[in-house]
Order: sequence, then structure tokens, then C-alpha cells
Amino acid sequence: MRRLLLIGIGAGDPEYVTQQAIRALNEVDVFFVMEKSEEKDDLVALRREICERFIDGQSYRMVAVRDPERDRDAAAYAAAVDAWRRERGRLWERLIADELGEDGVGAILVWGDPALYDSTLAIVDAIRAAGRIAFDVEVIPGISAIAALCARHQIALNRVGEAVLVTTGRRIHRERLPPNAPDVVVMLDAHCAFAHLSDEEADGLDIYWGAYLGTPDEILVAGPVADVSDEIERVRAQARERKGWIMDTYLLRRRTAEGVGAQGGN
Ligand SMILES: C[S@@+](CC[C@H](N)C(=O)[O-])C[C@H]1O[C@@H](n2cnc3c(N)ncnc32)[C@H](O)[C@@H]1O
Repeated sequence: MRRLLLIGIGAGDPEYVTQQAIRALNEVDVFFVMEKSEEKDDLVALRREICERFIDGQSYRMVAVRDPERDRDAAAYAAAVDAWRRERGRLWERLIADELGEDGVGAILVWGDPALYDSTLAIVDAIRAAGRIAFDVEVIPGISAIAALCARHQIALNRVGEAVLVTTGRRIHRERLPPNAPDVVVMLDAHCAFAHLSDEEADGLDIYWGAYLGTPDEILVAGPVADVSDEIERVRAQARERKGWIMDTYLLRRRTAEGVGAQGGN
């Protein structure tokens, strides 16, 4: 039976690659690498570096394919994502059939953790559901951008007994900050949603922001949203201009009377 390994490689630092991932990397015959037409070739290079660093010998092949273009400005966001996923699915199905022998092991290196804002699992499920090709799947968890953000700011993700909402910049723009969400992690935010909060929303709100976490370009800023929002917008724009792309994540946390001592716990 063919096998497909979905290996979480962590969100930037090659040292985020776990022992389990290294074991999996060493089982792989063929890596399927999606090459983007855009700036993020840096991220493809990091995947190659991870293979060279952690795999003993040269028993594997890399098959690089152009990632299907995705219409990021489409008004019908969900439909655009759906079309792109189907296109990727067709591509991967063909690669699994053509590039893997009957007992071959293929792998996709997934940025961060495959369970968090990543479409790989959904696409692979759809290929299996179509039933045209049989293969086993193994998922290797990875260190997510959220874990990296908290570690670098030395903060716990949750406060004692409290919930945490993980959402996207698009949703914050559209639905505003949920009034009762004490802590909100925002990902996939191309438009600095934190800078567009009303004075009322921003009042008493701290931000812990990180870009290129775990990489030599890492930038961290923390403080009251009202005080550091402009600074984050400025350094973000400069970094984006310099590198051609940016990935950033942040936690919004409402200050409480208890202060920092209230963080963590269960
Ligand atoms: C498609 S999601 C993938 C998330 C990934 N699966 C994970 O576990 O972190 C991409 C988003 O993750 C966040 N992200 C990923 N890597 C990051 C990094 N090194 N620094 C900051 N944010 C990052 C950004 O919010 C980015 O827009």
C-alpha cells in the first residue's frame, strides 16, 4: 500500500522539526513540493534545507510542481478556496499515482502544524473519498506559529480557566472583536485588523505581535494596541517591502485587574 506522510515542520526554525518528523522524513521516497509563483520561494528553500539537514543519505527524490494560482481577491472567498483546493487535489492525486510505486512513501511538508489553518488534510481526505487511488495517511504534528509566538513573547496562550479564540484577520474585519472573547489569536491577516479597531474595542487591549517567527528575520512587538499599532504597521510594511512577503500572527489580550499573574493555568 502506498503511504502519504503529512509532516508538520514547524513555523520557521529548522530546530522546530521534531524527532517524530525526522523519523518520518527518513522514510520518504518522494517529497511533493509545491512551488509558488510568488515571493514565498524562501519557504520552499527552507523545506529543502530541512531535508538536507535531517535526512541521512540521498535516498529520496523531490518532485516540484507549480502550485495552482489562487484568486485571493475574489469576492466569493469560500468558492475561490474551494476551486483552488480541487485543483490541488487533482494535481496531488496524479502525483501519488504517477510518482509512487505500489509500496512507495510520499510526503508533503506542511508549514507549522497540519491541524491549523492548513488545507492539506482536507485535500487529502477528498482524494481518498473519491476512491480512485488507495493510500494510507500519517500525520505528524508540528510547532505552530501560535506556539512560536507565545514562546518568543514568553506568555501563556490562555489565562486561568479562560477560552481563547483563534481566528483570521478577515473575520475580525468583518465581524469585529467578539465582545466577550478575552483572548484572540489572529492569523492570516493581510490588512492589520488590529489597526482598524474602534477606540472602544482597543481600550485596555494589549497586542503580542510576531512576524517571521523562528527565522533570522523575526520581529516582535508587544504593548497596548493604542500605543504600538502604528509602530507595528510601520515595521510590517518595511519588512514586507524588503522581503517581498510577510507572515505574522498576534494575540490580543484584554488587560484585567489581576494583571499578568493571571495568565496560564488550566
Ligand atoms: C496558512 S496559515 C498556516 C499556519 C500553520 N499551519 C501553523 O501551524 O502555524 C499561515 C498563517 O500562519 C501564520 N504564520 C505561519 N508561520 C508564521 C511565522 N513564522 N511567523 C508568524 N506567523 C506565521 C501567519 O498568520 C500566516 O498568515
